[in-house]
Amino acid sequence: MQPKHTELVQASWQKVLPIAEQFAETFYGKLFALDPKLNPLFTTDMDKQGRKLISALHVLVLTLGNFDAFTVQVRTISQRHRAYGVTNSDYATFGEALLWTLEQGLDEDFSLEVELAWRKAYDLVTEVMRTTAERAA
Ligand code: HEM
Repeated sequence: MQPKHTELVQASWQKVLPIAEQFAETFYGKLFALDPKLNPLFTTDMDKQGRKLISALHVLVLTLGNFDAFTVQVRTISQRHRAYGVTNSDYATFGEALLWTLEQGLDEDFSLEVELAWRKAYDLVTEVMRTTAERAA
């Protein structure tokens, strides 16, 4: 992750924060449209879940420039998610929904560079997830 990619992710995330509630709702709508099997995994109130998601993404975005801190966050999320029945392939669907929602939310600010930066950040999430799962196995 190059510093310029971290900066692009962090700067664009600032534009998501004012529309965070709508962002979360759109995100889960897209996630369940992409894979309806995921919907029943969520048993809690979706407004609350949306707020939890935004705050988790917020921490990930803030720690992006600090690999150790970022890795700790991703590992914690990954460990809890195994208990929810989330598999590695679900992370690909989640990433697709996230990128799509960013495109909707950022509109013309979702430039090719911003898209690339988010893809790299999300690739890093899945990479840390994979190595965490391998260690646990
Ligand atoms: C960067 C990736 C992700 C982040 C930041 C994230 C964030 C969160 C957070 C903050 C929670 C609240 C409970 C907790 O903290 O453990 C949660 C719960 C949950 N997440 Fe994720 N998540 C991610 C990926 C995924 C993926 C890929 C799936 C599956 C498609 C998923 C499915 C769930 C489910 C089923 C719950 C439990 C909901 C419930 O208790 O009703 N998450 N997630």
